[in-house]
Amino acid sequence: PRKIIIDTDPGQDDAVAILLALASPDEIEVLGITAVAGNVPLALTARNARIVCELAGRPDVKVFAGCDRPLGRKLVTAEHVHGKTGLNGPVLPDPVMPLQPQHAVDFIIDTLRREAPGAVTLCPLGPLTNIAMAFEKAPDICDRLAGIVLMGGAYFEVGNITPAAEFNIYVDPQAADIVFRSGVEITVMPLDVTHKALVTPARNAAFRALGSRVGVAVAEMTDFFERFDKEKYGSDGAPLHDPCVTAYLIRPDLFSGRHVNVEIETRSELTLGMTVADWWHVTDRTPNAMFMGDVDADGFFDLLTERLARL
Ligand code: BDR
Ligand code: CA
Repeated sequence: PRKIIIDTDPGQDDAVAILLALASPDEIEVLGITAVAGNVPLALTARNARIVCELAGRPDVKVFAGCDRPLGRKLVTAEHVHGKTGLNGPVLPDPVMPLQPQHAVDFIIDTLRREAPGAVTLCPLGPLTNIAMAFEKAPDICDRLAGIVLMGGAYFEVGNITPAAEFNIYVDPQAADIVFRSGVEITVMPLDVTHKALVTPARNAAFRALGSRVGVAVAEMTDFFERFDKEKYGSDGAPLHDPCVTAYLIRPDLFSGRHVNVEIETRSELTLGMTVADWWHVTDRTPNAMFMGDVDADGFFDLLTERLARL
């Protein structure tokens, strides 16, 4: 299995991404989960990550708390999407498993230095603060990474938090800039892909029909999160953003995109956090990212439902 660190700000869709990873031990070995401030403040994301591990029956997974705010600006949160706790919808018990004492950034650095070069993939599902901090503190780890597969950004679908920017990149554009300039090969799941992975009523019913604690909880999570997208966008259901990352690790063939140059806007007030992807190769800037554009949504939901049934 591929060794990964999940960096996350749960978030219902983060939660489903984590469940999918933990349900797929043949393909994915989760070395640890690092929490970052994003959808809700750090204390809640670190708590939610542990709630999700316990829901998966995996209290042994190591969860670390990382940065509580972006590198250079005030934290912007998204309770308007995810609810007050970040995991509104199902009623889940408080976690019993402990938070690890080590800082998430140090866990990332130590793990990459300990594991063989090319063995570990980073999977960021929130703002890139922890990852950028780790790269700044220990630049040597960049060469040791197998790569990064992240959810963030947008091209044709542009913004969901401002007209120009996607939430994860907008919250910490400085961190995103560091990561996209790091030289590490990045696979990006932007809104262009995730807005095609919609939890329609039939797909939600399929989660619920699993009848398990996990199946029902995922149905309740995606129900809650769906309200926002239905009202706001008239969409067919909630976009399941972050699970695209973990699904890609299992079934890369479900996704297609282009290898392009991506740069992050860090100065303009109007377009802060915009992912400027050279989709048509109109510059000679070196491609630094596999920017995905499409997903086989039925294949994605079949995989997800089949895997959730294992938990
Ligand atoms: C991203 O922002 C968060 O609200 C979601 O968890 C996802 O990671 C989508 O823009
Ligand atoms: Ca997220």
